[in-house]
Amino acid sequence: MLDYTLIKEELNQRMEPKLYIHSLSAAQTAKELAAHYEFDEEQAYCAALLHDYAKAIKNEDLLQIAWENDLLSNTVENEMPHLLHAPVGAYLAQLHYNVDNPEILQAISYHTLGGLDMSILSKIVYLADKIEPGRRHPESRQLREISYKGLDEAMLYSLESTIINCIVKKSIIHPRTIIVYNHFLRIIRNK
Ligand SMILES: [Fe+2]
Ligand SMILES: [Fe+2]
Repeated sequence: MLDYTLIKEELNQRMEPKLYIHSLSAAQTAKELAAHYEFDEEQAYCAALLHDYAKAIKNEDLLQIAWENDLLSNTVENEMPHLLHAPVGAYLAQLHYNVDNPEILQAISYHTLGGLDMSILSKIVYLADKIEPGRRHPESRQLREISYKGLDEAMLYSLESTIINCIVKKSIIHPRTIIVYNHFLRIIRNK
């Protein structure tokens, strides 16, 4: 078991207060979601606490770490380097805290874009990030409700919102977002 007191102290030092509070809140939410789905609460707490570990790192440094360690999944990430805080965070959690549980590492790595092989833990962390009580948008409230009904349903709703928001803001849509959206759409259709 990791030394959470030490991790929290370090997170508090490296993050703006808002991001630190978000990390604590996401960890608590992930624990509650895990309990709801009878999943390992400690794993959920750990992965969510560390999910934004690399978020305070500047874009140019994120890109450099990602390039050096082969963490880019698509060239579009050169245009949107902030997304790299997820895979870089997983890499650094392993390096700094010896986190070696592949499910925890996947959950950190997938929290921005999701993936085709998402574990239950990855879905819990992805959703906890978006529904923790600090997220006050009406969409988050709706997602919070769906998250307690079904993880796949909530993933689909969240990906739909992401795509719609990208279109409204005229932002580039990461190709993986579409691929993962189609994946969850098929899962829900086949249920
Ligand atoms: Fe994040
Ligand atoms: Fe986050």
